[in-house]
Amino acid sequence: MSYHNPTWQASMRIRLDVNNARTDVVGSHGVTDAALHALVPSVQQAIQEIHAHRDTLGWPVLPEQDISAIVATAERIKHVENFVVLGIGGSALGNIAVHSALNHPFYNELPRAKRLAPKLYVIDNSDPDLNAALLETLDPASTVYNVISKSGTTAETMASFLAVRDHLSRTLGPAALAQHIILTTDPKSGFVRQIGTKEGWSMLDLPPNVGGRFSVLTTVGLLSAAVTGIDIRELLAGAAYGYQLASNPDVLRNPAALAAMVNHVAAQNGKNMVVMMPYSHHLRHIADWFAQLWAESLGKKYDLAGNIVNVGTTPIKALGATDQHSQVQLYVEGPYDKLVNFLAVDTYNHTVSIPGAYPELEGVAYLGGHTFNELIQAEQQATAIALSDAGRPNITHHLPAINAFTIGQLFMLFEMQTAIAGALLNINTFDQPGVEAGKIATYALLGRDGFAQRRQEIAAAQQRRQAQWEV
Ligand code: PA5
Repeated sequence: MSYHNPTWQASMRIRLDVNNARTDVVGSHGVTDAALHALVPSVQQAIQEIHAHRDTLGWPVLPEQDISAIVATAERIKHVENFVVLGIGGSALGNIAVHSALNHPFYNELPRAKRLAPKLYVIDNSDPDLNAALLETLDPASTVYNVISKSGTTAETMASFLAVRDHLSRTLGPAALAQHIILTTDPKSGFVRQIGTKEGWSMLDLPPNVGGRFSVLTTVGLLSAAVTGIDIRELLAGAAYGYQLASNPDVLRNPAALAAMVNHVAAQNGKNMVVMMPYSHHLRHIADWFAQLWAESLGKKYDLAGNIVNVGTTPIKALGATDQHSQVQLYVEGPYDKLVNFLAVDTYNHTVSIPGAYPELEGVAYLGGHTFNELIQAEQQATAIALSDAGRPNITHHLPAINAFTIGQLFMLFEMQTAIAGALLNINTFDQPGVEAGKIATYALLGRDGFAQRRQEIAAAQQRRQAQWEV
């Protein structure tokens, strides 16, 4: 059935269950009805303001964007063997999340006849070993690089770009660069724009008002998705549906609002860590994407009135069932400082039986006749029960299935949840001065023009270091 069909869309609605965060389930560490109800007027106002400013914010209207340039670019390059994204933070995490959610878990290992599209690599670190291995491994003649930088200045991305440019020039000759490099950046400003204009290379525009962590549904995330054959129209239809759900003024029936409210009250009760725990290998990088969205948006020193508030809850990635055997001991018995957010899947893409064997060994025999689906779902429920019984609040986002529609919906629900959470904290959700501080220190350490004073300050601080504090 088509993803435009309202009946099908309703069957793909992501449900949120916050029962295990209630005080009558988890006791004093839970959330009361009264605390939630007290937030209703502020949350309604926050939603109205997001809606009123949706064009200025940019990300709420991404489902309506013109994708013809993305589709045409993807079509032009889909015959190549390798497609490599060079970017970092918001210019990489969404690409990784979409790819791992919607493409085959062993996508790059599939034979071309099954993959039907280029292999995808995302290089999001200035690690020399990673960058060297990239250039040593991929055949430049059959590789296209997508350099993504909103600001057009980020050191990690620019360094990878310079290495790739040099490698392509030396192996294929300077004239070939235009066939192998696509730039995604701000339509007007930044060095990447200047380079692309000077060289005459192919460029895709990034909406100037959409910040990195909200940019997965722009040219940033959509090109690599389209190149690998993901239906980006379905992704955007899911995001539009998510926006509709998240705009519901009946905020206790609105999954984005309710999640923001429960997180807010939990934080007030000392739950200063937010664990995101998908029970799906496909969704493991959604947790990384969410961590950036939540941390960069909500970790702020000042409120909108200029008061020092130092707010924000720390996102933690966990993966079910894997981390039941790692982190869950801490979550069940350690400090009462976490709200666990599960991502559960109702219907996985495959149903896989567990074959029966060894009837004489009861510890093995009971598995036979069940499915992997039943096992992982039981494990998610079991972890939620163990946490609840130990008085640990937890909430569950239920995805009916994993497809482009539900993933687009999930992105938008989490973006709205974050924007509402920021409004409840009365902070600027959309800036990132802490990230900029690190970028500035990097430029200073590497001797970039204009950063000499910062370099001197850092050198002075280095002199105050004491030998006995280093072993
Ligand atoms: O969300 C953000 O603003 C950051 O994580 C950026 O995405 C990251 O620093 C990369 O920036 P840019 O795309 O400008 O290179």
